[in-house]
Amino acid sequence: MCLETSVGLLKMKNPLMLASGILDMTRRTMENFSDAGAVVTKSVGMEKRKGYGNPSVIELEHGLLNAMGLPNPGVEEYVEELRGIKVSNLIGSIFGKDADEFALVARKIEGAVNAIEMNMSCPHAGSYGAGFPTEMIGEAVSAVKESVGIPVFVKLGSENVMERAAEAAEAGADAIVAINTVRAMKIDIETSLPVLANIVGGYSGPAIKPVGVRCVYELSKEFDIPVVGVGGITSAEDVIEYMMAGASAVQIGSGIYYRGENIFSDICGELKTWLETHGYESIKDIIGMARKAQ
Ligand code: DHB
Repeated sequence: MCLETSVGLLKMKNPLMLASGILDMTRRTMENFSDAGAVVTKSVGMEKRKGYGNPSVIELEHGLLNAMGLPNPGVEEYVEELRGIKVSNLIGSIFGKDADEFALVARKIEGAVNAIEMNMSCPHAGSYGAGFPTEMIGEAVSAVKESVGIPVFVKLGSENVMERAAEAAEAGADAIVAINTVRAMKIDIETSLPVLANIVGGYSGPAIKPVGVRCVYELSKEFDIPVVGVGGITSAEDVIEYMMAGASAVQIGSGIYYRGENIFSDICGELKTWLETHGYESIKDIIGMARKAQ
């Protein structure tokens, strides 16, 4: 059973990527995920950032709520951390305040990674993320495309996803990654106070999966570039659902919290069994099936 897939020019041994932000700050933690088809780094910017205070992550009934605040050592130090890393494909997640900063960070990380993921969707970091203005997306994507020779993906959240993806696709993005966490909050009713130090955070996990599947379905119907699905995946069935919606590959983040660090090899085994028992020869055969049925 063949699990190979590709996202544009990026070839993967299986469709599973480690999503940005989960156990991916250091070379050693990322190397634990060499079973994945690709690993996405923690988002990195031009300057070192400490991030928000604690609590920065809490478990809710149907998912996780986090607001880390883009902690990172700055791209120059981070490139040293990545040197010599042994994973299948390494994707560098980057953020910036404008086109010039995105292009600069992309150029600095290019030699250490196989592709770039532009983070335009962190739901609580102002213009470093979902607040990055839609009308500036095209200019930023063009600037990064002109600066590097590796594939450039753009990670978007569920809000205004079609308008933002249109800007990215028009400017030459090689793929859209959707979705990021959903802006959310939790209040402790005994103290009457918000629980997260940052008050607002991003919600991930099983609760957001139907939102992600809907976005992937609509994006892959509308645009000719590949879509990578992310949001709430914890099982092979979730992967299949995203791929039938049109995803060429998927990312897993919170799923590691629920199923442990072997989730990538476990899901690969489950995918093979499911595809075999349903008479498929290759995972590529299911991409967009739900769309074609319309
Ligand atoms: C963080 C959260 C995100 O959802 C994201 O896309 C990037 C960074 C964070 O809190 O660090």
